[in-house]
Amino acid sequence: MAKKILVTGGTGYIGSHTVVELQQAGYEVVIIDNLSNSNADVLEGITRITGKRPLFDKIDCTDFNAMKALFKKYTFDGIIHFAASKAVGESVQKPLMYYRNNLVSLINLLELMPEHNVKGIVFSSSCTVYGEPDMNPIDENAPIKPAASPYGNTKQINEEIIQDFIHSGAPVKSIILRYFNPIGAHPSAEIGELPLGVPQNLVPYITQTGMGIRKKMSVFGNDYNTPDGSCIRDFINVVDLAKAHVIAIERMLEDKSDEKVEIFNLGTGTGLSVLELINIFEKVSEESLPYEIVGRREGDIEQIWAQPDKANKVLGWTAKETIEDTMASAWRWQQRLREKGTM
Ligand code: WQD
Repeated sequence: MAKKILVTGGTGYIGSHTVVELQQAGYEVVIIDNLSNSNADVLEGITRITGKRPLFDKIDCTDFNAMKALFKKYTFDGIIHFAASKAVGESVQKPLMYYRNNLVSLINLLELMPEHNVKGIVFSSSCTVYGEPDMNPIDENAPIKPAASPYGNTKQINEEIIQDFIHSGAPVKSIILRYFNPIGAHPSAEIGELPLGVPQNLVPYITQTGMGIRKKMSVFGNDYNTPDGSCIRDFINVVDLAKAHVIAIERMLEDKSDEKVEIFNLGTGTGLSVLELINIFEKVSEESLPYEIVGRREGDIEQIWAQPDKANKVLGWTAKETIEDTMASAWRWQQRLREKGTM
């Protein structure tokens, strides 16, 4: 019988791409999402790609009674936990909302796992836990730096909650995945990133500007200590990222590791600057992108890219898509949104 995986936040950006990969690998998926930052239409996109509609319940992970009922309704083999608030700026304005949402959700899941014999949880973490790295590329043993925002702090605290719970002897395993900068969309252009309002992240801002939805891009700073002066990131294709989750869940369910908690960086291993990414967009879209250099954005890291060797060796996972194909997928998705009249 197919193994059943609970995907929290499964209608969101990374969640939806992961659901596709899970279903294509033969898993049965139950999505829960409170739809606070996503849309149930995503289920149609997933269905068109995979030929199978995932089970879906509109549930808020902070609602313990609803979660209890969910664990009674289904028997889960494993969990992938994406559901969280994720806007850095908003977290500074509404810290309690971030702490309640991001911490209580995880605590509820962990509390329910042992009594329902759920063996493992894959947790969606972030390279934000490293702060400004002392050197690049950065590996999993690098020190955790004080968080620059309540959002970043929730990721650090969540990692600690998992570690403490497992070290207390709880019969649970976890794989913590630290994502670098996920970008792009499914090659079918059936699912992709759907930012609400003015995008905060770089790539949706680029594609919306390319489409004429925004007049021009702002590049936040060209006076950083980098070759072209703009910030450097490790941009990772969202489908590549999604595939790592399938490997991680299988690793836990089949007890391939003796360690109860494992941490992996998920990145390409290559740093690319904001200006380089804009150039690549212009090349693949054949659009010229209006942009201006403005002041630095508060709280930005100058440069960070992953040392992904551990994920490459231990998980047998490598980011495969080229940055050109990834940017082309983001552009196709933006064009599809225009065709559908969504944006
Ligand atoms: C990338 C670069 C900006 C917009 C954040 C989170 C991180 C992660 C992804 C989750 C920076 C520059 C951006 C624009 C610009 N996870 N930029 N003009 O800040 O690296 O990471 O999102 O949710 O945890 O911290 O990503 O895409 O916002 O910015 O010049 O209009 O692009 O200054 O250098 P970031 P980003």
